[in-house]
Amino acid sequence: MARIPKELVDQIIHQADIVEVVGDFVSLKRKGQNMWACCPFHHEKSPSFSVAPAKGLYKCFGCGKAGGVVQFIMDIEGTSYVEALKYLAKKYGIEVQEEEKTPEQQLAQNEKDSQFIVSNWAKDHYHHLLLNTDEGQSIGLSYLRQRGLNQTTIKTFELGYSLDQWDDLLKTAQKAGYEQKYLEKTGLVIRREDDQGQDTGRRYDRFRGRVMFPIHNVSGRVIGFGARTLKPNDKTAKYLNSPESEIYHKSDVLYGLYQGRQAIRTEELCYLVEGYLDVLSLHQGDIKNVVASSGTSLTDGQIRLLKRYTDNVTVLYDGDAAGIRASLRGIDMLLEGGLNVRVVLFPDGDDPDSYIRKVGDQKFREHLEQASQDFIQFKTELVSREAAQDPVKKAEAIREVLQSIAKVPDPIKRQVFLQQTSQAFGIDEQVLITEYNKLVRNASGKAAGGNSGGGSGGSTSAGSNVSSPGTAPASRPAPRPMSPEEEAEALMYGASPEDLMGGGGDLQTLTREDLEPVPDVLEQCEREVVRLLLLYSAQPLAPEVAVAQYLLQQLDDTSFKTGIYADLMYLCRQELEQGRWPEVRTLIQHNRSDIRSMVAELATEKYELSPNWTTHQIHVPRELDLLQTACDNAILRLNKVNVERELAIRLEALRHPLDDDTMMEHLQTIRLLKQMDNQLANLLGTVIPRGA
Ligand code: CTP
Ligand code: MN
Repeated sequence: MARIPKELVDQIIHQADIVEVVGDFVSLKRKGQNMWACCPFHHEKSPSFSVAPAKGLYKCFGCGKAGGVVQFIMDIEGTSYVEALKYLAKKYGIEVQEEEKTPEQQLAQNEKDSQFIVSNWAKDHYHHLLLNTDEGQSIGLSYLRQRGLNQTTIKTFELGYSLDQWDDLLKTAQKAGYEQKYLEKTGLVIRREDDQGQDTGRRYDRFRGRVMFPIHNVSGRVIGFGARTLKPNDKTAKYLNSPESEIYHKSDVLYGLYQGRQAIRTEELCYLVEGYLDVLSLHQGDIKNVVASSGTSLTDGQIRLLKRYTDNVTVLYDGDAAGIRASLRGIDMLLEGGLNVRVVLFPDGDDPDSYIRKVGDQKFREHLEQASQDFIQFKTELVSREAAQDPVKKAEAIREVLQSIAKVPDPIKRQVFLQQTSQAFGIDEQVLITEYNKLVRNASGKAAGGNSGGGSGGSTSAGSNVSSPGTAPASRPAPRPMSPEEEAEALMYGASPEDLMGGGGDLQTLTREDLEPVPDVLEQCEREVVRLLLLYSAQPLAPEVAVAQYLLQQLDDTSFKTGIYADLMYLCRQELEQGRWPEVRTLIQHNRSDIRSMVAELATEKYELSPNWTTHQIHVPRELDLLQTACDNAILRLNKVNVERELAIRLEALRHPLDDDTMMEHLQTIRLLKQMDNQLANLLGTVIPRGA
């Protein structure tokens, strides 16, 4: 994994101009302080995508995508963090000295480059043969035509044909000066061995007399080929594929992603099919957001790749429900990857390719709309139907569905699915939740670390570390404590504070309480503190005391209850401790998307005065002038809400039978809390006039 030194990262981020960077992809128009365009990430007619040059960030008010320069490149190009930095460095002529490459690494890089080059040449050669030779036209091209493919599709996907000879590619390549060793390494040419496995020195082409489907990586480079035979009763496989090589890793490739990536982003959806021809036919029918897993079962790598482009996948598998049963495991993996999954079935015997050619584009689209069902719902129906009246089977079926639900990282979604399942099977929801928790506990006992810490961000359980005995987190391997440097680094790379605290509550188990929202007032109070901290961190309130220092000092060890704000506070504190002001500019680069969008939201929200100020129609000249007041207000309010919460809890406790000592203790605390509440009310009264 390449690493770029921190100073260089800072240099790149500060030198890159957000308007220039975004301007390479959309045309921005100035309106007020900001620049506007139609969003490149979703379909729209009027611009809701804005760039704030002063803040160095972009935000779409339509789809919510937001971030800084690096994020923009990651989003639009679907690259990793490091790749995005390299892109920007190149644009701004900043030399990226990755950690020195050893001679071996340099050699490996050259090796790979040579393989890319020869693959690209072979693709051109096959394409040329298809279009410009008699054999190519009469056999290859006429086959593709007969399968309904037009010139545009053939060109877009750079389809080709390999002559039915033993060494056409080998000879032509050598004539053109390509080294035989790279033809072998990419699997285009095979070495013939004798019975003892000794090299005979003879070489021949792997692909002969086949239609060629070049396979591209996301940057459009050819890394391998799929090749279909044209002989009706060929004894060899229908498809031959390039073998694994240094540039081709089958498990990390999705066919059609390069050609479909832009559409996948704007449609915010990807159709997943099985075969090359399915991709081509749909593309030609103007459904461009489609990729193929190419016959094998889905891999983690493919799912991660997909997730860089969209959260929504619709699986288009051929055949009936029974056919899809074989694919259930792969679909579960999509859920596990945090994707929203839907399923469309096709009439018996049809695959997407044959079906679209049978019914036409329009009808096909209609079918996609009508026949698409949520995967968990689909699976629920499938297994509940199978289980029919057999109670043993039914229990097994429920467990199967619960297993799918457990793969969903988002707690809210899990809750919704549990509700639906309880309805489908006619089982009380609480019973189902208990069953679910049991299942999750057992599973995590067996396979430790299966799904640690996924999506901890907005979870309201993050702040409260009370977990009822029934839902105690299953054993996890105890992590080695991190050094402060490691911790800071992990945070910069997107770990959440809970991740670092060694697990916290088990996020995969659910109780009803977990899902109860934190009261709105509290959330608002916390939000206001975070907003002031982030937007005005460096503004001085008194000599030597800036907003950030003041707020953190005043808050002391008040813990925030809303997950996202707690995380932001933690990050701000970290920044300050490392001698930097917590700033929008920095935090907007954070790896967690919920952090980025919250920062963007806070930074771009039109400032609204505290509700009390507006209702009392007090003239407020400028927020900055009243910064001290705003800070005090925010802190006092937050304290007051917390005191009231605590008070409510103590009062509630009194309603249950208690021994005398505990009762006395509660009463004393309640008295104290009431005093504090009054004092806070008075203080707030002196800061701003309050209504009743
Ligand atoms: N596949 C493969 N090797 C095979 C058979 C299939 O790699 N021997 C992969 C190919 O990527 C193929 C996909 O699995 O596209 C789906 O297989 P299948 O449904 O059999 O082929 P189709 O794509 O439908 O091709 P065609 O319509 O030409 O028969
Ligand atoms: Mn087919």
